[in-house]
Amino acid sequence: MFMDPQEILSLCKRRGFLWPSFDIYGGMAGMYDFGPLGVALKNNIENHWRRLYVLQEGFMELSCPLVSPEPVFKASGHLDTFSDMYVECTKCGETYRADHLAKDLHENPATLDEVQLGKLLRENGVKCLSCKGDLTEPKRFNLMFKTMVGAGKAKPGYLRPETAQGMFVNFQQVYRLGREKLPVGAVQVGTSFRNEISPRQGLIRLREFHQMEAELFVHPDDKTWPRFGAVKHEKLLLVANSGETKEITLEQAVNDKVIVNEVLAYFMWLTYRFVLDVGLDPKKMRFRQHEKTEMAHYASDCWDLEAELGYGWVELVGVADRGCYDLSAHIKHSDADLTAFEKFDEPKEVEQEGVKVKFDVMGKMFKGDTKIVAEALSKMPLESLKGRESVPVQAGGRTHDVPAECFEVAMRKEKVTGRKFVPHVIEPAYGVDRIAYAALEHAYSKSEKEDYITLRLKGLVAPFKAGVFPLMAKDGLDGIASEIHASLSSAGMHTYYDDAGSIGRRYARMDEVGTPCCITVDYQTKDDGTVTVRDRDSSEQRRIKKENVVLAVTRLVSGAGLKALEGL
Ligand code: ATP
Ligand code: GLY
Repeated sequence: MFMDPQEILSLCKRRGFLWPSFDIYGGMAGMYDFGPLGVALKNNIENHWRRLYVLQEGFMELSCPLVSPEPVFKASGHLDTFSDMYVECTKCGETYRADHLAKDLHENPATLDEVQLGKLLRENGVKCLSCKGDLTEPKRFNLMFKTMVGAGKAKPGYLRPETAQGMFVNFQQVYRLGREKLPVGAVQVGTSFRNEISPRQGLIRLREFHQMEAELFVHPDDKTWPRFGAVKHEKLLLVANSGETKEITLEQAVNDKVIVNEVLAYFMWLTYRFVLDVGLDPKKMRFRQHEKTEMAHYASDCWDLEAELGYGWVELVGVADRGCYDLSAHIKHSDADLTAFEKFDEPKEVEQEGVKVKFDVMGKMFKGDTKIVAEALSKMPLESLKGRESVPVQAGGRTHDVPAECFEVAMRKEKVTGRKFVPHVIEPAYGVDRIAYAALEHAYSKSEKEDYITLRLKGLVAPFKAGVFPLMAKDGLDGIASEIHASLSSAGMHTYYDDAGSIGRRYARMDEVGTPCCITVDYQTKDDGTVTVRDRDSSEQRRIKKENVVLAVTRLVSGAGLKALEGL
């Protein structure tokens, strides 16, 4: 069934999930405010993600600034290459993302460059969608928001377009906390910013959005994953860039080299498991591999988890193999040692490049600091020492400018106990807003006859876990219902107390926002201490003892169904 996203967005606005930001001033494209139900939905999605990545998989959660100094994005490549192409109407000035205008003209317009895309649009007579005016040739536009940091001698800074860089620049800390072993992983949940060219798709394309990203640092030769065995028989629907689409087991996908290794395959499966947990429809999910020419500048392979929505197939998560791209780039630009160390079983005699400090020259220049500067210099990555007139060396809390005549980088024989290497990175990058929207759309159902809306949200993500109603707000029924409401709240469950209007209307209000069950206190409660529990999806009811309400709601929220209330 085709779903009109406007229908979902209007429910969201009406019931307090989402509001267009700055509405009283005419709004701002690509920005949404989350109302109380939206915040609860988003928090539930993020907290379940933490449960998988932090508690189950052992990633360390970091929280880094939203504004980063320019060198970070110079090194990461975002400053030079993080751009999309836009065209402008020569008559009314409206702008469009050029590849989006070409979506029905080419199988994958994201693979085309400016010239190819311009030719395609011209040859097909594509005009401005609002006034039919002529369009300019496509031009590149960097998506990062720039700002200035500080007064006076202010320096440029950028709002982060991904949370990932904060984790790369902290690799040394993460590696040390992980007891200098690989694999080790970090995650970050937070806001990212992209100055999107024409954000017209609700939560799908925002200028300020929320990401949940994981960076797993692995040994480059390690293609296996300890927990792969437990999931290798699970199946995924894969659309490979070879043109083949098939549903195959993870084991077969790795054996046939459709997915490059067990690590990537495992995290694709974890991603799939996560989106099912939060309620997405398995029949509307697929993994699509990027074309080589479509990949982000840092990726060597990438699979997008896509969901079928009213907008078409939409990427919700990108699972990328970033190789050693980012850490190598930050080593080169910052001179920091972002390597890991691999100990050999036995010390080896090897001929390798090393740095030799010329103590006679250095001693004259650095006097009492010679020892600490030489030590720090010897630990620096060789790449950062080569071909430079001088090298900034951090030692004793200061930066020492060490001229090239103080050292040489040359081949030499030595006994070594191990080697340094730059770890590779596997990155599952999730967009919270797109996942939240997909959960809403896949949960949305409307009965044809009565226009009755039910959001069949999974209990795990539902903003309210239960509605609590006294049949009448009198005769002591309200007192009992308030006590039940309080007991659910103290058990950590967000519930909605409602004592107004007909019971049918109260149920309808809860069904429309996805509340899994409702508890009603009636006159029988006063006689025998039982209450009714109504299940959202079947509309069936059971009577249970009022002291068992917390247990009953917990079971229904976990998806156990009404049969799980037997004996309560
Ligand atoms: P697209 O091709 O749709 O622009 P992308 O490839 O740029 O997406 P990534 O850079 O892989 O997306 O970002 C990781 C995740 O962050 C995406 O899967 C998506 O869920 C989310 N995301 C990216 N850009 C936006 C945006 N403008 N608004 C909302 N979510 C976004
Ligand atoms: N960190 C992946 C992305 O946001 O593009």
